[in-house]
Amino acid sequence: MNGQEVQRVLLDGFQAQPMPAGQVSSYWRQYAGSLDRTGFESPYACGTARRMLSALERVSYRQVTRQLAGFPRAWATALDVFADMTRRDPAAPPGAGPNFNVLKAACVASVLLDHWDRHAWPATIAIIGDGYGMLGALLSRLAPKTRVYAIDLPAGLVAQASSYCAANPEETSWSVDPSQSGRFTFVRADQIESVTTSIDCAVNVASMQEMDRAGIARYFTLLRERSHGGSHFYCVNRVEKTLPDGAVIRFDQFPWRADDTVFIDGPCPFYTHYLAARPRFLRPFDGSHWHRLAHLVPIVPGERA
Ligand SMILES: C[S@@+](CC[C@H](N)C(=O)[O-])C[C@H]1O[C@@H](n2cnc3c(N)ncnc32)[C@H](O)[C@@H]1O
Repeated sequence: MNGQEVQRVLLDGFQAQPMPAGQVSSYWRQYAGSLDRTGFESPYACGTARRMLSALERVSYRQVTRQLAGFPRAWATALDVFADMTRRDPAAPPGAGPNFNVLKAACVASVLLDHWDRHAWPATIAIIGDGYGMLGALLSRLAPKTRVYAIDLPAGLVAQASSYCAANPEETSWSVDPSQSGRFTFVRADQIESVTTSIDCAVNVASMQEMDRAGIARYFTLLRERSHGGSHFYCVNRVEKTLPDGAVIRFDQFPWRADDTVFIDGPCPFYTHYLAARPRFLRPFDGSHWHRLAHLVPIVPGERA
């Protein structure tokens, strides 16, 4: 499929079934009304004041980004991708600048680049819950030969297809069927078992905290079943979050195992605060974020994660 075709197929799929049964937590049931592209936080800072605020916000993170060896490369590429997105994304407001979501994607990408440079570059990346699609658009440009699986609810896939297409207009190899080859493959949350290749690198940023425990466990099982010696999972999520139905989701209670190899583990330094236009200017995010980069011990299908 070409980019236009895959976007049409995903939009039709979203309209036919916006929320696959059993995959949607109480969080997403509550916000179902805004489950379209506009419901995701975009990478765009609109207007001079917001652009300036975002620029100052980046300065406030400079101590952190200096520590990330891959950041200059990731940030330069993020700006290129952002420029392409603002040119080609019909939803991009004129004159927009990069906001915190672009910085966050560049930080995530630099953590991964540092790991890949030290270990091995991935042939397959699975991004679970990529929202507007900034991270996948960036990783696909940093690793131009790597196969990318975008895994999400139907609304997310529509958003991600649009962003990935804007960032990769020449690419012709798009698919919604993991059994076919394709550089970009969009997989609905209820169809993750159809990804049968191994997954070298998996990423989840700020989205397991919006799933229920069963949904999180399903992803860990899939990742362990598709894990091999060099596979790694980068997980950036809230330490704790209470879903609208009262369920408490805790990072440390995700189904990690004591024998997983942990490369990075701690409070996430690039996801601590944002800048507001009024005092108090520097504000902490609602809840602290943890990040862990780990090799998940593989299991064979059917074994308990
Ligand atoms: C708050 S957004 C985070 C977006 C992006 N990762 C970021 O950091 O900006 C949460 C994402 O999780 C996705 N999501 C929610 N439930 C999901 C599920 N069961 N499987 C996969 N993705 C899911 C949403 O559609 C959305 O893309």
